[in-house]
Amino acid sequence: MSLLPGFVDLHTHIIPGLDDGPVDLETSVALVRAAVAGGTGVLVATSHSAEVVQSGGGSPGMEARLAAVREAVAAAEINVSLLLGTEVYLEPDTPDRLKQRAVLPLNGSRYVLVELPFQALPLYLEQTLFALQADGYIPVIAHPERNAQVQREPEKLFDWVTRGMLVQMSAASLAGGYGRAAARVCRLAIGHHLCHAVASDAHGPVTRPPTLQPAFAHLSAEYGPAVATALLDEQPRAIVEDLSLALPDPLPLQAGANGNVFQRLFGRG
Ligand SMILES: [Fe+2]
Repeated sequence: MSLLPGFVDLHTHIIPGLDDGPVDLETSVALVRAAVAGGTGVLVATSHSAEVVQSGGGSPGMEARLAAVREAVAAAEINVSLLLGTEVYLEPDTPDRLKQRAVLPLNGSRYVLVELPFQALPLYLEQTLFALQADGYIPVIAHPERNAQVQREPEKLFDWVTRGMLVQMSAASLAGGYGRAAARVCRLAIGHHLCHAVASDAHGPVTRPPTLQPAFAHLSAEYGPAVATALLDEQPRAIVEDLSLALPDPLPLQAGANGNVFQRLFGRG
């Protein structure tokens, strides 16, 4: 299946009536329409794993649900590529769930979108990430800039990336939509080659919207169009095509004298 040109949105909630995404098919179509109007050509449906598992498992149940969205989108004459994945909340049984196909990697690739808790990182985290890698998966960590512990210890990102993991940040975080601390982590991560894709994490056509154009404009202005294209098109496209990524070496983050890396880098707390 050849994918359409445009932005590749690795993280969206477009399947209706399942998680906290669209309530019905009509709203799903409105979401996809807004995404395409904003320059997106490819969306991956990454419903939350808890609801995916509750609904009876990933494949073929989720394929059938996505097929209904594809059909409705085609009937509305919207030209877009819709792919399947899961936003997998990381738990000790995640490797087993993937083996059972109860949750799904991104478009059947080796890349799996994993979500962390928003507060403290759990004790099982590193072991589970390692287990996924031992099974041949490459974890793509979803919006770590929104995690309170990563905001305090952004050097965690360097640890994960040097161990072969990838990082997806939310478009809304870039310009402060999730607060100053999240925006700072984005700035730091992009400047140190610790962010590999920017996605919408869209939940609806208006609330938590799918439009990636503002993120492209922001990234182009701050880092140049090559970085914007890499984060919104080239790298997420390589991920869904199950290709290896040619990435610049990550640059280390070093804590300042008081342990606060931001004070060293930005001269403020
Ligand atoms: Fe999400």
